[in-house]
Amino acid sequence: MSDDKRPYWQKASQVFDERAQEYDSWYDDSLLFDIELAALQELETELVGPRVELGVGPGRFAAELGVAVGIDSARTPLTIAGRRIAGVCQGTGEDLPLIADGVGTLFILFTLCFMDQPQRVLAQAEQVLRPGGHLVLGMIPARGPWGQALQAKKEAGHPFYEYASFYEMKEVEGWLATAGLQVVELRSSLYQGPEGLVEFESSRPGWHGDAGFVVLVARKGVMG
Ligand SMILES: C[S@@+](CC[C@H](N)C(=O)[O-])C[C@H]1O[C@@H](n2cnc3c(N)ncnc32)[C@H](O)[C@@H]1O
Repeated sequence: MSDDKRPYWQKASQVFDERAQEYDSWYDDSLLFDIELAALQELETELVGPRVELGVGPGRFAAELGVAVGIDSARTPLTIAGRRIAGVCQGTGEDLPLIADGVGTLFILFTLCFMDQPQRVLAQAEQVLRPGGHLVLGMIPARGPWGQALQAKKEAGHPFYEYASFYEMKEVEGWLATAGLQVVELRSSLYQGPEGLVEFESSRPGWHGDAGFVVLVARKGVMG
């Protein structure tokens, strides 16, 4: 058993701190990035500001999505994100450093899987959203081709996935409902597997089990 007593978020974000430049460079000229970004840009829901991203990392997606403020538990990626977006803040999803009812759209992209209390994070997300505001959750479902490949990397000791837990769609939809967030749009993309990624893809509406990447948009009720 590990005797590392640090909070989980600190352990999970250490690799992103220590290898921030490597993580950022990974997206240079990346077809994967283009496909994932397109899926986010193809959402039909009207997403209002202010836009905030939790787990912003080096801010590649944030810069393209009009995010004003990025939050991350790791400091080094924030220094990179700070060159791409207006504001950055160190903090955790478990205790979001934001006032209640202030955010128009909250993005959580490729980050929920690094949190050991995802339900608490989604409850926090609901609190900080304005009534009628949206959470945009980009995730790699556990049973999709990419989820399985990344799980195998984790088991093989890949440092970036040591603290990742890939969740099932139904599980996440249940947590959103418990948090008081209603799913209003779903889009799927990345039908090419990790070994055969050769061309650009656009996303399709709905959730499809053979997709590697899914975006859920969940709305906070107007009546609070
Ligand atoms: C895979 S990266 C995603 C970065 C960015 N969203 C992207 O897609 O490029 C996950 C990020 O979540 C951050 N993170 C991990 N646990 C966190 C927590 N509990 N609270 C806030 N950020 C966390 C990590 O430091 C890391 O920068």
